[in-house]
Amino acid sequence: MANPIDGKNILLGVTGSIAAYKAADLASKLTQNGAVVDVIMTPAALKFITPLTFQSVTTRKAFTDDDLWGGEGHVRHIGLGMAGDLLVIAPASANTIAKLAHGIADSLLTVTALAARCPIMIAPAMDGGMFENPATQANLEILRQRGFIVIGPAEGHMASGLVGLGRMVEPSELLGQIRWHLAKEGPLSKVRVMVTAGGTQEPIDPVRMITNRSSGKQGYALARAALDEGAEVTLVHTPTNLVLPIGAAETLVHTAQEMADAVLKYADQTDILIMAAAVADFKPVSKADQKIKKDSGFSNIQLEPTMDILKALAEKRVHGKNPKVVIGFAAESQELLQNASKKLAAKKLEMIVANDISARDAGFSVDTNRVTLLFADGRSKEFLLLTKEAAAIEIVKEAVVLYQKIQH
Ligand code: CTP
Repeated sequence: MANPIDGKNILLGVTGSIAAYKAADLASKLTQNGAVVDVIMTPAALKFITPLTFQSVTTRKAFTDDDLWGGEGHVRHIGLGMAGDLLVIAPASANTIAKLAHGIADSLLTVTALAARCPIMIAPAMDGGMFENPATQANLEILRQRGFIVIGPAEGHMASGLVGLGRMVEPSELLGQIRWHLAKEGPLSKVRVMVTAGGTQEPIDPVRMITNRSSGKQGYALARAALDEGAEVTLVHTPTNLVLPIGAAETLVHTAQEMADAVLKYADQTDILIMAAAVADFKPVSKADQKIKKDSGFSNIQLEPTMDILKALAEKRVHGKNPKVVIGFAAESQELLQNASKKLAAKKLEMIVANDISARDAGFSVDTNRVTLLFADGRSKEFLLLTKEAAAIEIVKEAVVLYQKIQH
């Protein structure tokens, strides 16, 4: 699926807080992601930022209380409230939170919130003392109970000069939360997807290890794509410098054995497993407790095979039981399709992603992949050069079809 923000109507409520300037960044990011963004500013917000700022980034009129009483005034709030897929109030001041909690509707924003039929997300922003005040806490609790999605606040420097809990979360975090929220009703809603990513690390001594060139990018992109379809995603990954997509749970592992333990432990709570990780096939027989010194010599490393996770899973899998769909990868530098279809059969997979790593623009560490999807029923689908994000979308699209077939 495309980005779930694309084409959505987002109402962005902006209240009186210094963090209002960050709302301009959020409005811009939402617009760049394809949303139609209608901004509603409270009178206090106008003290911090002008409608023109928002109009410039959204290319749409930003509404103020002048629109509540003027022209088509009496229906404006109903119209806005009905058309939105999501109302995001960021920053949400303590004052607006109090009004929302008690159904006070004295501005276009609060009246729209009261009339809205769509979910409401709020990002509190205030001084730490105001946030901790029992009145604010009680108001937030009321809103949570009523289904409002409360994001933050974060800890850090506040306008008062104090450091504490009260800062609005960053626009990039809010964007991720909005994306996650808008995807939740997707075709993989309530479906648990486990994705493995990265190359495992097999220690030789406390400082040295055997690993491979996998960056984890394809696995992270798969987690993102599954989240965009509404799935509950767990990413089992080795250390990478990639950012976990918002909404995904994570389990950090290092060795093939740790990855095997994690995958096999949660296999029966997993509906779809996508093994994108590059798991080491061999590991040192033993790990030296202390760093091996140069003087002591280092002529060879004795290796032994690791567990083949997919094979181990295939042996205990029962048809119709979890994981219902298992997708593997085949990284090949020669005889791509023959080798991949052998693995498809040997590991009893529903689908394998044959990945040609001989090309310079595909495989490890680069941003693109050349993939062919091979299915257990003999079908295949070949793709031209794709970004790893685009490849992930195609792979997850097929996972949805395979999963839905098994469900019916
Ligand atoms: N895999 C696994 N456990 C291993 C090695 C690989 O579960 N110990 C999984 C990978 O995550 C991938 C698939 O098996 O989804 C194929 O991995 P690949 O390295 O291409 O194949 P191998 O089975 O290791 O065979 P070879 O290295 O000989 O090509």
